[in-house]
Amino acid sequence: MTETVEISRPKSVEKHEIAAKKLFGKEAKRQAAKYEKKGLSSTAKRITELIIAQDTAKNGVYLDIGCGSGKICFELLKNGVKKTIGIDLSEKAIEIAEQLKEKFNFQDRAVFVAGSFLDVEIPTTEPIQGIILHRVLCCHPEAEKILQKVIALNPQEIYITLPTDNRIVRTIHVPIGVLTRTFTKGFQAQLHTHKKIFSILLEHDYTLVLKERKTLWWTYVFRKENKTAV
Ligand SMILES: C[S@@+](CC[C@H](N)C(=O)[O-])C[C@H]1O[C@@H](n2cnc3c(N)ncnc32)[C@H](O)[C@@H]1O
Repeated sequence: MTETVEISRPKSVEKHEIAAKKLFGKEAKRQAAKYEKKGLSSTAKRITELIIAQDTAKNGVYLDIGCGSGKICFELLKNGVKKTIGIDLSEKAIEIAEQLKEKFNFQDRAVFVAGSFLDVEIPTTEPIQGIILHRVLCCHPEAEKILQKVIALNPQEIYITLPTDNRIVRTIHVPIGVLTRTFTKGFQAQLHTHKKIFSILLEHDYTLVLKERKTLWWTYVFRKENKTAV
């Protein structure tokens, strides 16, 4: 007999995820059309450039959390990455990613999963070289839980893009948050402090190897320190 394990979620997080699914389902269609016409956004492009510049990319498995329509995965695959796994809360976004996967003929190298990263099983038996969190932690209230699961997957590299968290952004975030929560019936963009995110990763043997700002976005690259026993 199969046993079902119920993962309990605070009501507010449940509500947030339901609203996010709806919002990003609509957004994925727009994003996919933009990607096909114009390519990646500047921060997403930068992450793909950083990954493919490394020798490890060709034999690596990369996991894109909150992949939307899968654009970062496709650019990595087009540039020689061995395999990508994309996960997104929105079934609609994953449906679009699956259509693009067929169109680009990546059936044997791209895997997409619909569901919250916090719930899904990651479909790989191979080690994960890198994990990408591009503009995603700002879309979920439980950043700390997401990072803990990322760390448990033991990637060698973690790529994170976050909105600036200075005092001005914090101030305007409050009224904007109220408006978005009202119009989307529960979704609210999150401003997790960069300091908190750093402290979680640094505590787990990751080193910050790059930080870059583009307009309102900061991209950080962390690498696992390989401590050899003495
Ligand atoms: C702002 S969009 C960014 C999409 C994509 N990374 C990009 O840069 O275009 C945030 C995405 O994260 C997804 N998302 C939010 N929370 C998630 C979670 N817990 N698990 C998986 N995906 C999540 C949303 O559905 C949405 O597609």
